[in-house]
Amino acid sequence: MKAVLMDGFGGAEVLYVGEADKPEPGERQVLIEVAATSVNRPDIVQRLGNYPPPPGESDILGLEVAGTVAELGPGIETLSVGERVIALVGGGGYAEYATAHTGHVMRIPDAMTFEQAACICETYITAYMNLFMLAGLADGETLLLHGGGGGVNTAGLQLCKALAPASRVIVTASPGKVERVRELGADLVIDYQSEDFSAAVHGYTKKAGANVILDHIGGPYLGGNLRSLGVGGRLVLIGVMGGPKAEFNLARLMVKRQRIIGSVLRPRPIAEKAAIVEEFDRVVMPLFATGRIAPLIHEVYPVERVAEAHRAMESSSHFGKLVLAF
Ligand SMILES: NC(=O)c1ccc[n+]([C@@H]2O[C@H](COP(=O)([O-])OP(=O)(O)OC[C@H]3O[C@@H](n4cnc5c(N)ncnc54)[C@H](OP(=O)(O)O)[C@@H]3O)[C@@H](O)[C@H]2O)c1
Repeated sequence: MKAVLMDGFGGAEVLYVGEADKPEPGERQVLIEVAATSVNRPDIVQRLGNYPPPPGESDILGLEVAGTVAELGPGIETLSVGERVIALVGGGGYAEYATAHTGHVMRIPDAMTFEQAACICETYITAYMNLFMLAGLADGETLLLHGGGGGVNTAGLQLCKALAPASRVIVTASPGKVERVRELGADLVIDYQSEDFSAAVHGYTKKAGANVILDHIGGPYLGGNLRSLGVGGRLVLIGVMGGPKAEFNLARLMVKRQRIIGSVLRPRPIAEKAAIVEEFDRVVMPLFATGRIAPLIHEVYPVERVAEAHRAMESSSHFGKLVLAF
């Protein structure tokens, strides 16, 4: 089968389209003929050699697929060959065929294209799981999202507005993305290059602070995040784009009864991911089916242009998602 392969670790130039063995579905796995996948920031980190796949997963890049069920492994009764599906995969998404555990597969709403559907699993599940399942974001609370033009955070903003409509969402963005984030429904957009985000959060919340913060910058933002977090607030850390180390005042955390939650999706056990996907399918997928929310596609690339798609993500020129089509 055709797949995106790597000539060692490094820049986007290591990526090329070549031939790989077609995977075989094991117990309770389906084989999916992939129509589209999307680029996620962890793919870049893996390409650089800093995010190895969990044991037993394909070392081909790609954390999600949209396509058609091609074959059923033993023990599956709930899916049929030919169904249009999306799946969260631990690797192997940048290929013509990928296997997925049956509990990590969802049906695609009829009106949705494969390209749109390929943008759901990694970003929307990450946003939903962290904001609602882990941080327990409640309607009426205030959320701070960083990097509002990215895949996870455009998803987080849409989900918050749809599932917790009385909440207020504050978003940081680079200057060129501020207006589009506002159009997406953010209540306050902070240009993080010219403003101190914690001062802006304090001003907007009249010093109460945010109830929940979703952060992927890490070390350099920890101080500002803790200053922005209110009493009883929850800071969820899902990435360390700015660096992994920081110092902070534990006494302040204690007095303000705050929680810092570290979270990853990919290495979780199969059953845990299946439980997350089951809840997501029940709560969030109807929002796509009814058109209440829709994935934001920046650009669709034929898979042969995968290096260009990676360069686009690394330069942060995108708003929303970059899709690879087979
Ligand atoms: N833990 C998990 O399970 C999990 C799962 C998926 C993704 N992630 C992580 O989530 C993050 C986002 O992933 P993604 O796929 O959505 O990537 P993405 O589309 O590239 O989004 C990242 C965003 O961060 C913005 N950004 C960069 N520097 C910033 C700063 N100093 N302050 C605020 N925003 C900044 C970028 O826009 P500008 O450069 O224009 O600001 C970009 O919009 C990554 O760190 C990824 O590793 C974690």
